[in-house]
Amino acid sequence: MCGIISVLSLKTKIANCLFSSLERLEYRGYDSAGIAYIGIDAKLHRVRSIGTIDNLKRAARELSIEGYIGVGHTRWATHGKVTEVNAHPHICKGVAIVHNGIVENYQELKKELLKSGYTFESETDTEVIAKLVASYIDNGIDFQSAFKHAISEISGTFAIVAIYEGAPHLLLGVKKGSPMAIGFSKDNQNFYIASDAVALSTLVENVTYLEEGDFVIAEKRDTLTYKVLDNLWSETSRKSVPNRVSLHDVEKNGYETFMLKEIFEEPKVIRLTFDKFEYNLNTSKHKSISIIACGTSYYAGLLAKYWVEEALKIRVDVEIASEFRYRDPLLSADTACIFISQSGETIDTLSALRLVKSRGYKVIALVNVESSSIAREADFVIKTEAGIEIGVASTKAFVAQILSMLMLCTDRNSLAITEIETSVRTVLNMEKKFIDAARKIMSSNSLFYIGRGPSYPVALEGALKMKELSYIPAEGYPAGEIKHGPIAIVDEDVYTVVIAPLDKYFEKTISNAQEILARNGKILLLTTEGAKNLSYDFRENENVDCIFLPQLSNPVHQPFCLVTAIHLLAYHTSKLMGYDVDKPRNLAKSVTVE
Ligand code: G6P
Repeated sequence: MCGIISVLSLKTKIANCLFSSLERLEYRGYDSAGIAYIGIDAKLHRVRSIGTIDNLKRAARELSIEGYIGVGHTRWATHGKVTEVNAHPHICKGVAIVHNGIVENYQELKKELLKSGYTFESETDTEVIAKLVASYIDNGIDFQSAFKHAISEISGTFAIVAIYEGAPHLLLGVKKGSPMAIGFSKDNQNFYIASDAVALSTLVENVTYLEEGDFVIAEKRDTLTYKVLDNLWSETSRKSVPNRVSLHDVEKNGYETFMLKEIFEEPKVIRLTFDKFEYNLNTSKHKSISIIACGTSYYAGLLAKYWVEEALKIRVDVEIASEFRYRDPLLSADTACIFISQSGETIDTLSALRLVKSRGYKVIALVNVESSSIAREADFVIKTEAGIEIGVASTKAFVAQILSMLMLCTDRNSLAITEIETSVRTVLNMEKKFIDAARKIMSSNSLFYIGRGPSYPVALEGALKMKELSYIPAEGYPAGEIKHGPIAIVDEDVYTVVIAPLDKYFEKTISNAQEILARNGKILLLTTEGAKNLSYDFRENENVDCIFLPQLSNPVHQPFCLVTAIHLLAYHTSKLMGYDVDKPRNLAKSVTVE
C-alpha cells in the first residue's frame, strides 16, 4: 500500500536507484508515481505522473536527474482521486514529503493551516504534512525539529520520508504503523529509507527494520551517517539483518508475468513447506481456535476450518479481521488465536491482533514475511515458505497457508506430499484447458463459483481471484445455498464454475449444477478423474464443459490441485481480456490502511 524509496548519496547518480526501486514497489500501489530530488543546482525538483513507473520515466526523460538526495513514491489512492496533482511527493516551500498510510486528523490540521494562509492544491491528507513542516520552518525552526513537531501533531498510521531544499544533507523518516526499512549500499556511498526490503533488494546486503515510533535521521558530510531515535526522541539502535530478498525473487525469470511465475512455483512451495514445517499446536491447552484474516488469507482460514475440526475435533471460528476488531469478541485463554497474513502488514489483521493482545491473550501468526509487523508483534510465528510474492493476487502464498494449516492438524507421515506435489504439476501441464475455458467465460456477464465442503472455500477463493483479475462480477457460494436466492440471477449469460471433485459431496453438488442448467445457465465443471463415468449424462449437456483434474488418493488433499486450477482459470481469463494481471485496477498487495 503505497511504496516509498529514498536515497542520500555521496554521488549524484540517484535516478537509476529511484526508478528501479519504484518498479519493484509497484505491487504496493500503482495508480500514480513521482519523485522529488534536490539537484546539483541546489533546487528541489519534482516529476509526477498517473499510471505506471514507465509513464513516470517518460515524464522525466527530459530531465537529467542528478543530485545527492531524492525521494520516490508509488501511490494507492486513499484520499483524493488518481490525478497527477494528488500524486506524491507533495511539496511546500522546498519541503518534499512521501507518505504511506493515513493522516486521520488532516481535516483539522488543514483548517488551521488555511487560517494561517497556506493554500492546498490536492485532495490528499499528505499535503498537510508538507505544509505543516514548512510552517514550522517558516517560524524559524530547523528542518529536523520542524519534522519532529509536525509528526507529533498528526495522528493515524504512517511511514513518512522528508527532504528539504534548505538542508540538502538531511534525509528524515518516521515509522508509525506502516513498515519502514533502511540500509547502506555495499560501498557505503548510498543510504536508503524504503517502505520494504523488496525496494532495497539489489541495493543493500543488510537491512534494518524500524520499530514503532522510530525516527531515522541520515546525514551527509564527508561520509554518510544515520541515527535512529525512538518515540521519546532518544537515540537507540536497531539490529541489522541480511537482506534475504534476492534479484531472483523479484524478477520474472522468463515468465510473462509475476503471477504466472508464482502459480508455477506452487509445487515447489508445497515441497518446501512440507520439508521445513516444524510447528505444533498444543491441543491439550486449546479447546477452540479463532482464525482471523482478510482476503485470500481469510479463505485459507475457512478451508482450514474443515480440516482442523475433522482432524482435531475442536471448534474453529474464522473471522474477517476488520469485523472482528470492531465488535467485542468473546475471547478466552483456551482459544488459540491464529492470524493469517501473507504480507504480515495488513492493518485490519494487525489491529485485530493488537486487540487480542491487549486483553492479555497470546497470539499465533501465520505469515509469509518474517520481518513484518504481525510477525514481530505475535507471541508465536509460523513462517510460510512461499518466498516473495509480487503478483497482487495471492497464489502461491495461499497454497503455503493452506498446507501449513493442514500440517498443524495432521501427522506429517499421513500426508501424501509427493502425490499432492505431482498432482499440482499435472494441473499446471493442463494449462491449455484453462485457456480454452477462459475463452468461454470471458464474455459472461457474471459468474458463480459453487462447491460443498472444503470445495466451498475453494469456490470463494476462485471467485475472488476471478473478480480481482477480470473485473467480471463473481460470487462464491456453498452449492446448496445457490437455490436460496442467487439462482434468480442465472440465465444464459451467467457462467457457474462448479467445483466438484469426486468426494462425498459430489452427487449433491451435481444436483445443484443441474438446477442451474435447468435455467439455461452455463457450467464449467472442475472435477476429478474418478468422476469421468459418474458424470457422463451431465457432461453430454451442451451447456457443460468439464475439466478433469487428478484424483488424489486422500480426499483431504484434493483442494491443492483445485486451487491451482482456479488460479490458472482466473489468470487466463484476465490475460485474454487484455488486463494487467500483476496489477489489477484499484488493488494493492499490502493494505496498510483501514
Ligand atoms: C489485499 C490483497 C489480497 C490479500 C489481502 C490480505 O486485499 O489485495 O490479495 O489477500 O490484502 O493480505 P495479507 O497480506 O494479510 O494476506
